[in-house]
Amino acid sequence: MQSLEVPAVGPGGTGAHRNRSPAGGIEAPYHGVVEPYPDRTPARRPGPGEPGPQLDLLDRLERPLRDLRISVTDRCNFRCPYCMPAEVFGRDFAFLPRSLVLSFEEIARLAGIAVELGARKLRVTGGEPLVRRDLPVLIGYLSELRTPDGDPIDLTLTTNGSALRALARPLADAGLQRITVSLDSLDDAVFGAMNGVDFPVSRVLEGIAAARDAGLAPIKVNTVVRRGMNEASVLPLARWARDEGLILRFIEYMDVGHSNGWRLDDVVSASDVLATIDAVLPLEPVAPDYRGEVAGRFRYRDGSGEIGIIASVTRPFCADCTRARLSADGHLYTCLFAVSGTDLKTPLRAGESDAQLAARIRDVWLARVDRYSELRSEATDRLPKIEMFALGG
Ligand code: GTP
Ligand code: 5AD
Ligand code: SF4
Ligand code: SF4
Repeated sequence: MQSLEVPAVGPGGTGAHRNRSPAGGIEAPYHGVVEPYPDRTPARRPGPGEPGPQLDLLDRLERPLRDLRISVTDRCNFRCPYCMPAEVFGRDFAFLPRSLVLSFEEIARLAGIAVELGARKLRVTGGEPLVRRDLPVLIGYLSELRTPDGDPIDLTLTTNGSALRALARPLADAGLQRITVSLDSLDDAVFGAMNGVDFPVSRVLEGIAAARDAGLAPIKVNTVVRRGMNEASVLPLARWARDEGLILRFIEYMDVGHSNGWRLDDVVSASDVLATIDAVLPLEPVAPDYRGEVAGRFRYRDGSGEIGIIASVTRPFCADCTRARLSADGHLYTCLFAVSGTDLKTPLRAGESDAQLAARIRDVWLARVDRYSELRSEATDRLPKIEMFALGG
């Protein structure tokens, strides 16, 4: 193992602490385990199908539009306290009425325009996307989209896995290529608390098995780590994912939306997660797979697999953020932490042409300056941000 000089640990012990780093974000030293953190800037190969310069639509910070995250519903059958706490989103909460939700045809049309403008990855999200009826129909439409050069698009989906056992095969048959499943613990009691509805681990594992059988690959698993809730699940999850050949990514708990009561003290830093794993299963950093990759990659030194770390709080990655989000009600957002979006549904339903809609998206992207995670502070923590489940986490 490398022996490294690392900054002193702050007064909060090894947890995320309160120093703001000069580059923005909250500095979290890596405690001598797996430095250096992978450098995101010089990616080894271009982003998904990265096209030539003639297609590049750059925002004010010179970032191209590459990914469109599409929320197909704001509903979910889980009530994860970090996203949709049950006490706020109870029985009488007014989710979007059907008339305000884009049809599959409307979504596919807007996605096609985004692809014309440079998007190369489409990720279907929610809420929980699989609660939307007939979702494979949309996947079929999206899988037919091609870049201006005629290449296929990277088409994927993020799900809580609860309905995956039944839907993995129809989704794959419709053209879905890969999938990401959220799973915060292998322990039923811990997972039940993290999903807010006591949903059992075994059902998600069945969903993952079905995804594998259906040929969806690679399968990634996303784990949000929250202090006092699931730190003890980190190592069991790492061992399990390694044995199963899954790419596990740990996500720092974020101050998304305005209902989860986020506190910095609840964040388990990427540094701590890495230290926990590295102490037992030694790790080394790996270069990013593509420019703008959200997860920092690390592989086991014995070659038995890799993990990812999504450190939006302690290591912001806004400089390479190429993501736009389309909400279920047809608004375009240029940041996960946005307080407002641009209505595309009204002009779309009023009969605007593809060229007119493209001009709207282009104007939004050209004006984009978002870099919330780099600017995060006590003032921004309290902004009336749109909920993550509403804008396509
Ligand atoms: P790959 O295409 O497999 O690389 O996936 P991805 O990491 O782009 O997407 P995924 O949906 O798996 O993202 C994982 C998590 O990272 C999300 O659920 C968010 O918690 C977080 N995340 C994704 N994009 C952003 C972003 O633009 N900003 C911030 N702050 N967090 C993000
Ligand atoms: N912080 C970090 N990740 C979150 N997710 C939802 N809310 C948060 C939050 N507050 C993640 C879920 C899932 C994806 C859709 O977003 O775990 O993997
Ligand atoms: Fe549902 Fe995903 Fe939000 Fe959990 S994180 S409540 S599964 S949308
Ligand atoms: Fe992109 Fe906003 Fe996330 Fe920064 S905080 S990476 S700009 S979505």
